[in-house]
Amino acid sequence: MIYLDNAATTARKPPEVAAAVARAIDGFGGAGRGAHGASLDAGVAVLHAREALARLLGAPSPSRVAFCANATEALNAAVAGLLRPGERAVTTAASHNSMLRPLFRKQDEEGCEVAVVPHDARGALDYGALERELSRGARLVAVAHASNLTGDVYDVARIARLAHEHGALVLVDAAQTAGCVPLDMVRDGIDLVAFTGHKSLYGPQGTGGLAALCHVEVPPFKEGGSGARSYDRRHPARMPESLEAGTLNAHGLAGLAAGVAFVQERGVEAAGARARALAERFELGVRAVPGVRVLGGGGDAGRCGIVAINVADVDSAIVAGELDAGWGICVRAGAHCAPLMHEALGTRGQGAVRFSFSCLGTEAEADAAVRAVAEVAEAAFS
Ligand code: ALA
Repeated sequence: MIYLDNAATTARKPPEVAAAVARAIDGFGGAGRGAHGASLDAGVAVLHAREALARLLGAPSPSRVAFCANATEALNAAVAGLLRPGERAVTTAASHNSMLRPLFRKQDEEGCEVAVVPHDARGALDYGALERELSRGARLVAVAHASNLTGDVYDVARIARLAHEHGALVLVDAAQTAGCVPLDMVRDGIDLVAFTGHKSLYGPQGTGGLAALCHVEVPPFKEGGSGARSYDRRHPARMPESLEAGTLNAHGLAGLAAGVAFVQERGVEAAGARARALAERFELGVRAVPGVRVLGGGGDAGRCGIVAINVADVDSAIVAGELDAGWGICVRAGAHCAPLMHEALGTRGQGAVRFSFSCLGTEAEADAAVRAVAEVAEAAFS
């Protein structure tokens, strides 16, 4: 098997991640739920994960990192908690459904206005349109750091500057970039960052969270046990407890901390550069194949390790199926939960075949994928 679906989830993890989860699952108590050794072990692991994420994202302190199940849950919490009825949000066509759908629910059910800034046919963000939308006022500017479809990375520091000039909060979806594109919330004034653990942080699925600067509190999206202030009628209102009702996934977070340590030993820049180099090698190869169209390229802050292509007008699911059946190559086809980006690129019907690389991939895998695409393309024309 050649696994090139790392933008969905990294399937190959550093061995330290599995070892950390195995250790944790064989003895952890509930984090923050007792003063005995098993509970303290879990609590220390969660604290280490919080510290690691705060360093990685440039958050002001570990307590400003709350853990959730994934980036989707973090984005839902942020949108639900920050956008009040009738308020206005600005997003862009690069947003994933985990951002778009919570926003559109607000529009449909709570009278909020949601402006969607367009991207062009290469995936470039229309900054003029963004400024026009911002000048009409907004409570929240909610954007993807990178398109999960094309891998184009956007300049979120610039977007944050523009948003702040108009008094809006900035929420960045870093699902595709945490661990492979440097981010510094404090330096760049990014108010909120949603991240997931199972992609470029090499952690287990079911780990992720929301980081926020000190001036932003996201109200609880669920209430319950907090392990502290148990006699209060209401759930704690401050991070991280505000977003962490119920027993935390300390088993998973122990693995996530090991994944982040793996990334930080290499450096986010170097880990990202390795995945990007493999993607560029693949891209160079497939660009020479007749009938192949490479999508995107319009990011204003580079690209992460994703290359989305189409082979002439062949349905992307057919191409992905042939790559799997014939060569054991795992890629993702279809809409990628990114409907508006497909509309921008003109690929709504066909979808796209997405190849995504991790820093644990090899040149041989990238080259094998080029050869397989060439054969699929040749067969399509014969
Ligand atoms: N959002 C993930 C992807 O792009 C699952 O595949």
